[in-house]
Amino acid sequence: MSHIFTPVKSAVPSIQKVILAITGGIAAYKSAILARLLIKEGFEVRVIMTQGAQQFITSLTLQALTGNEVHTELLDTKAEAGMGHIELAKWADLIVIAPASANTLARLAMGMADDLLTTVCLATAAPVMIAPAMNQQMWSHPAVQLNVQTLGDMGYEIIEPDNGVQACGDTGAGRLPEPDMLLREVINFKARLTVPQCLTGKKVTITAGPTVEAIDPVRFLSNHSTGKMGFALARACRDAGAEVTLIAGGKVSLMTPLQVKRVDVLSANDMLQAAIRSAEAGCDIFIATAAVADYRTRDAAPQKIKKTQDEMILNLVKNPDILATISHSYPTMFVMGFAAETQNVEKYAQGKLAAKSLDMIACNDVSRTDIGFASDENAMTVFFADKYQKQPVELKKMSKTNIAEHLINLIGDVLD
Ligand code: PMT
Repeated sequence: MSHIFTPVKSAVPSIQKVILAITGGIAAYKSAILARLLIKEGFEVRVIMTQGAQQFITSLTLQALTGNEVHTELLDTKAEAGMGHIELAKWADLIVIAPASANTLARLAMGMADDLLTTVCLATAAPVMIAPAMNQQMWSHPAVQLNVQTLGDMGYEIIEPDNGVQACGDTGAGRLPEPDMLLREVINFKARLTVPQCLTGKKVTITAGPTVEAIDPVRFLSNHSTGKMGFALARACRDAGAEVTLIAGGKVSLMTPLQVKRVDVLSANDMLQAAIRSAEAGCDIFIATAAVADYRTRDAAPQKIKKTQDEMILNLVKNPDILATISHSYPTMFVMGFAAETQNVEKYAQGKLAAKSLDMIACNDVSRTDIGFASDENAMTVFFADKYQKQPVELKKMSKTNIAEHLINLIGDVLD
């Protein structure tokens, strides 16, 4: 029988909550790194470990890395009182089993429900990705190959193991791919399954984070931007099929999204030069989330300024407006700005939409501490240029990942 487990393409609006299931194998240590990478990529991660997995790596490691209790038991009153196995199965948008042992493959193929992992896999509507890892001889055994075939037919997504030298000294197929490759598989799968490919073939440039304006070699003017909003947008554009250049200002310490070209800059002038280079190289869409310092010091001191005076005056000069420069120099480019305001939020945003000749602007209230700067969440109102005849759109408070996905859909609508 084939396709008794229907891939849930239309039933998954977004993939954000991931269960990482670890089974017994020497490659289990790679799953700790994968958990970290998934979180940095913006996923919410909960971990299931089989008894076998706990022989190779402790649940404490995974608990510390994810900040969540690790799920190990099917029939544990304490666990069931918290997030029970059915709740866990419903919670997940995606289950990733890595590494998946030969034993786990066999039990999943048989439809067994004799531990937490197999039971959750039966009880979930979420798609399941399986990354088998084992000795090369085991991997090539007809029983294992038959189970993999059966699982594939059921709709499970199989991640092919790598070829190479194995922990046991053998050489051949059966190695768990490196964590960054597994992450890439998850991202591509998510894009295939859930994201409308509305930016396929488009080149997008995004500015993100703060700019840093030197006062002297050790001091600078900057702001509270972390780059989270811009990086979330870079991931959303990539997932929608775009080729993305991300110009990160200041000292953004976030992980570069996979398949995204990152350019690090410090000051507003550096950011402008990088933006122009990117536009010249060919760019269809420019999105400015960066919190650019409006002013820089007229002359940054070449040496550390000594504290000889009680008062000090800094002479500041206006920085170039990167967004306005790009929008006025490249009139056919689709240009979107952000507006960070603390009062009269919508009025100022609409003013910027017109003054900077933008196609779209998203305004957020940065006087709120629960959204905007540094927060993982945001809320905003989006305004469009008159020519699109589109009503403003309100995006209620949600994760920056979700906000970014909504914004990309809005861009897709307008470009359509
Ligand atoms: O980075 P996070 O911690 O995630 O925080 C996200 C954010 C709050 C920084 C983001 O959501 C946001 O609001 N970004 C815009 C910040 C800003 O500088 O807004 P503004 O209203 O001052 O500028 C309007 C627009 O012009 C922005 O798109 C800005 O990037 C651009 N600009 C401003 C000045 C300048 N010299 N050059 C510009 O390109």
